[in-house]
Amino acid sequence: MLIKRRSSHHPTEQDVTPEAVYQDRRLILKGLGLGAATLAFPTQAGVLDLFSADKPTLGATTRPLNIHAATRPEGVIITPEEKATTHNNFYELGTDKGDPARNAHYLKPEPWQLRVEGEVAKPFTLDVWDLINKSTLEERIYRLRCVEAWSMVLPWSGISLAGLIRRAEPNSRAKFVAFETLYDPEQLPGQASRSLGGGIDYPYVEGLRIDEAMNPLSFLAMGLYGKTLPAQNGAPIRLVVPWKYGFKSIKSIVSIRLVEERPPTTWNLLASNEYGFYANVNPQVDHPRWSQASERFIGEGGIFGAKRQPTLMFNGYADEVASLYQGMDLRKWY
Ligand code: MTE
Repeated sequence: MLIKRRSSHHPTEQDVTPEAVYQDRRLILKGLGLGAATLAFPTQAGVLDLFSADKPTLGATTRPLNIHAATRPEGVIITPEEKATTHNNFYELGTDKGDPARNAHYLKPEPWQLRVEGEVAKPFTLDVWDLINKSTLEERIYRLRCVEAWSMVLPWSGISLAGLIRRAEPNSRAKFVAFETLYDPEQLPGQASRSLGGGIDYPYVEGLRIDEAMNPLSFLAMGLYGKTLPAQNGAPIRLVVPWKYGFKSIKSIVSIRLVEERPPTTWNLLASNEYGFYANVNPQVDHPRWSQASERFIGEGGIFGAKRQPTLMFNGYADEVASLYQGMDLRKWY
């Protein structure tokens, strides 16, 4: 999502510039010695080529889930599964949109444990597959708005974040919630070096204020389209916070920690002048390098031909969340 560091090849450019310019930039990067030859590196599983031109394939195996299916809202187009699973941001699996699907096989989401700890009376470790196998998950159809100005509508399956946090009995010092993605360069090869992983210091970390985390919209997804999550979408468990830019919705999480101080967050650490802690979707506050007034909705068409539509305040969830920010200057980067 950055273009300052030429070598890190952040994908925002791909989304905010015409395709021809973007393709041209890939050639420039190769010319600089940052193409496949330099970036291919051996791992136990084989060779990772972050610049492979192969068409992305569905690299992860998914299986059907028990869900309480949501009623399909009338007139709302749901993004086709093939788009949602091949146009991804998951820098640990590569920085191009198709990389996470191509490299999905590196991530082994089973077994998986998630720790809930910190300022709580009853910390616990959740066996994620036990939960998936023994529960009927709730389906929710949410809009996803990436800070790069593209959007999707996705049917997630999972549980409310508040329910899980309550089980740990947070104490009065729990003012924020810190989330962490798995750190394992064998499974997430982008973590092996800064240049492979887009300049990020891993693990990817995110955070919410406690009242945001306890808002009924905050969701822990373990499924998509009625099936377990593909690796590229954050298997086996990820956060979904629909009124915030997509980078808050951290993937493949292993830790949820209740804390007293505001936790550091990955994109804010990388460029605090471009990515705030709150990152609420707001059509009136432009990104320093592009407008946020409209977005490209990824439906049936391709990303570059995608229909532009107005961005909605809080991504359309103002009725549910605007009260959380009363008295705050929403124009300011926090
Ligand atoms: N989580 C991790 N661990 N690593 C990432 O690179 N990218 C974020 C977010 N979660 C990211 C992540 C960004 S920028 C977006 S827009 C969403 O995931 C994209 O989710 P999707 O690929 O399922 O659409």
